[in-house]
Amino acid sequence: MAKKRVMYECLACGYESPKWLGRCPNCGAWNQMEEQLVQSTTASSKSPVQVNTSNNQQTGRALKLDEITYNNEVRFSTKFDEFDRVLGGGVVPGSLVLIGGDPGIGKSTLLLQVSVQLANANQKVLYVSGEESAQQIKMRAMRLALNGDNFWLLAETDLLTIASEIERIEPDIVIIDSIQTMQVPEHTGAVGSVSQLREATAVLMRIAKGNQIAIFIVGHVTKEGNIAGPRMLEHMVDTVLYFEGERHNRFRLLRAVKNRFGSTNELGVFEMLDVGLQEVGNPSELFLEERLPGATGSTVVAALEGTRTILAEVQSLMTPTAFGNAKRTASGIDYQRISLLLAVMEKHCNMLVQNQDAFFKITGGVKLNEPAIDLAIGISIASSYWNRATNADDVFIGEIGLTGEIRRVSQIKERLKEADKLGFKRAFIPKNNFNDIDTDFEIELVPVATIKQAVQRVF
Ligand code: TYD
Ligand code: MG
Repeated sequence: MAKKRVMYECLACGYESPKWLGRCPNCGAWNQMEEQLVQSTTASSKSPVQVNTSNNQQTGRALKLDEITYNNEVRFSTKFDEFDRVLGGGVVPGSLVLIGGDPGIGKSTLLLQVSVQLANANQKVLYVSGEESAQQIKMRAMRLALNGDNFWLLAETDLLTIASEIERIEPDIVIIDSIQTMQVPEHTGAVGSVSQLREATAVLMRIAKGNQIAIFIVGHVTKEGNIAGPRMLEHMVDTVLYFEGERHNRFRLLRAVKNRFGSTNELGVFEMLDVGLQEVGNPSELFLEERLPGATGSTVVAALEGTRTILAEVQSLMTPTAFGNAKRTASGIDYQRISLLLAVMEKHCNMLVQNQDAFFKITGGVKLNEPAIDLAIGISIASSYWNRATNADDVFIGEIGLTGEIRRVSQIKERLKEADKLGFKRAFIPKNNFNDIDTDFEIELVPVATIKQAVQRVF
């Protein structure tokens, strides 16, 4: 029998140490070290699950580029355009995709809908749930009016059983809901511990690659925003998607943060209805739907999200600080960006913001993080500060530099096209971008060189 020894492993990051430590030297978390029994043979490096690798092309011989056959057409569609785009154009056979998100955000609902849609498109799908019974999933499927012939359900947490069912059914797609409930029985360590997660993911990886099965793994996210425990899962899988949104908001955003088969930053927008998730093909319209015309502190920006332009509303609220230090909060925008823009506005636009509380929000729950949103934020700050309404038909595009200059942004034409389509009348754009524009747009273009000039033009 293999000799056992004790190791301590950090639950937060997976750091291993031979002795117990109060604080993890790797991630700094306190009280996260947990005792793990490790078999000191090489057992853990061997898979306890026998996987068919006969059609794996890796032969140990290097190949020339043109000896390798690759066919992009093998991807298959989930019948959700939003989902396909985030994946980089559909599901790749043999890929391992991790979908992270807060509990209750709708991961199971999304994957159940996708499974049934794939099954209806003649793909064999196996949905494995370690969280709900088969009856519960069936109930949900009925509530969503989903019905599929090629669709198998398995309520199981033991990966050995799951692997043998995969061998029996030979599915094209497998859903594992969730990785935190799965266990490799021969591997010591509690269910949900970092070492179990890692082992379970490694087993699934071998199944995916060896049998050309696309596997989707659900992972719950901890409060800190990491996929529970291990960041290392992100390194092991091909694609990492986050499903996010505020629970009380009907919008859900699917975002690729890592993708070996497509670009990251791609965004898919869904709406949670009582009949399940529905994709939103024209998110700008919905994000702008509740805008109050003539409001102060509100501007519209045309921001890039992956390959798509999204128009969203930026809101600022500046109020005098009652006592103590000024408060600043931002939702959907980076806090650093806000601090910097407040400083630039103070310096270049004659405003005194030190004694003002400042609150920022991007409506619709989107997170924007690209330089071109600066001008819209700057103008919304000025609008709230001077209590002067902005024009509801204006859209703002431009990066602001530290000297108050408005800097050129990428893909100006795509942004203007979207604003034009949605009926905006006027676009404030960087002066340096103005000369690149050869297309005729309905929308009137206002080139600006500095934030001061922009503020003078707007108010
Ligand atoms: P779920 O998919 O179970 O979340 P997760 O798997 O990420 O934990 O989603 C559960 C929530 O979604 C629940 O609060 C109810 C809501 N919901 C709807 O609003 N409409 C629906 O059609 C369904 C199935 C769920
Ligand atoms: Mg779930």
